[in-house]
Amino acid sequence: MPGEPTAPGPGSGGPHSSRLDPWIDQYAARTQGLAASQVRALFAVASRPEVVSLAGGMPYVAALPLEQLAEIAARVVKDRGNAALQYGSGQGDPCLREQILQVMAPAGIHARPDDVVVTAGSQLALDLVVRVFCDPGDVVLAEAPTYVTALSVFSSYQCDVVQVAMDSEGLVPQALREAIDLVRRQGKTIKLVYSIPSFHNPAGVTQGPARRAEILDVVRSAGLLLLEDDPYGLLGFDGSVPRAIRSDDSDGVLYLGTFSKTIASGLRVGWVVAPHGVREKLVLANETAMLCPSSYSQLTVSEYLATGAFFDQVKTFRELYRERRDALLESLTALMPPGTTWTEPAGGFYSWVTLPPGLDATAMLPRAVAALVAYVPGTGFFADGQGGGQLRLSYCFPDPERIREGVRRLAGVVEAELDLQDTFGDTLTNMRPFRPTGPTPDMV
Ligand SMILES: Cc1ncc(COP(=O)(O)O)c(C=O)c1O
Repeated sequence: MPGEPTAPGPGSGGPHSSRLDPWIDQYAARTQGLAASQVRALFAVASRPEVVSLAGGMPYVAALPLEQLAEIAARVVKDRGNAALQYGSGQGDPCLREQILQVMAPAGIHARPDDVVVTAGSQLALDLVVRVFCDPGDVVLAEAPTYVTALSVFSSYQCDVVQVAMDSEGLVPQALREAIDLVRRQGKTIKLVYSIPSFHNPAGVTQGPARRAEILDVVRSAGLLLLEDDPYGLLGFDGSVPRAIRSDDSDGVLYLGTFSKTIASGLRVGWVVAPHGVREKLVLANETAMLCPSSYSQLTVSEYLATGAFFDQVKTFRELYRERRDALLESLTALMPPGTTWTEPAGGFYSWVTLPPGLDATAMLPRAVAALVAYVPGTGFFADGQGGGQLRLSYCFPDPERIREGVRRLAGVVEAELDLQDTFGDTLTNMRPFRPTGPTPDMV
């Protein structure tokens, strides 16, 4: 009837409509960035055992003391079930927040338990920080490239992401300064500078102490807030822990930490350290998102930390990942065709590879998967489609033998691409089958 409001719901025929998703017109504008990646289907294939996956950033949880963790998890239910199986504080368990201070001490962070908010992984902390600071159209400055799922968070809050150049020591201070000036001249509001200073995902590089001081200086003199994301800081292969930028500024830096890479990603326990006012907002946002972080996971982590085994376990992981990093770098050096370059990570999980000029890592991926090796194409780490000639390799999950085999297969694929390029020249570059449009679970 004219003048009558249209009924909400699937205008074109209800849930039985022939459209694939009858609710397609109803989604909030902020979900526009939540497109499923076309790479996802390939990663389904890539998870088959015959494929060497150098794609995912999955920690090697098989190296954990599983018996001990099983015993702790059972004890937490048996002896502390009333707390472990109940709702808890929106800020996180007080005892765990105290223990987190000890976990951050090697990075030079001095804080009080009250400064810490426990979240379901640092991913949720990242989401909450963006939620409390960013309105649609606000600008977030981030490294180029940056963590895929940070880009998804920024886009889900309709932020504009401006990515800033990196070099072998990470974010370039002068480039950051220029980006700030440019964005401000355009009349836009910058809300956050997001950086991963240690063992960067995906670039594999680390800011040295002088670089960190310079970055802090730029951010401070621009009156901006720095969001320091540090999941890998304890995983430096020489055993030293880079000093967190938060150690030198407790008012202007929000620090994200996690047990995902040092204990178990499946427990989903991360945290954010924030100045008083921000922390209050984050607790409220945490409660809105999930009432409270999992009491069971928190108490399991807390009881495990209480055994005193944590830093020894970190050492075990460090040595294991160093051996895998070595296997990756040695085989890249031995096997990759000339013109390919890569970063040499001093810790963490990733190396960033630049292919010989003219090759496209996204176009090459189906051929790589057909050759039984997988990686993440570089375009996923940029908001604007850059990174076509680059890819991320992770060495955290496969053992050294599999890594060597994976690189052998990848080198064969790159050689074959170069042969094709020799034969077909530019025609090849124009035959790109698809572009990734969003993250896949395997990209973390
Ligand atoms: C840079 C970075 N930040 C945050 C996360 C999220 O970690 P989690 O939510 O498991 O703590 C990851 C995971 O890979 C990461 O690499």
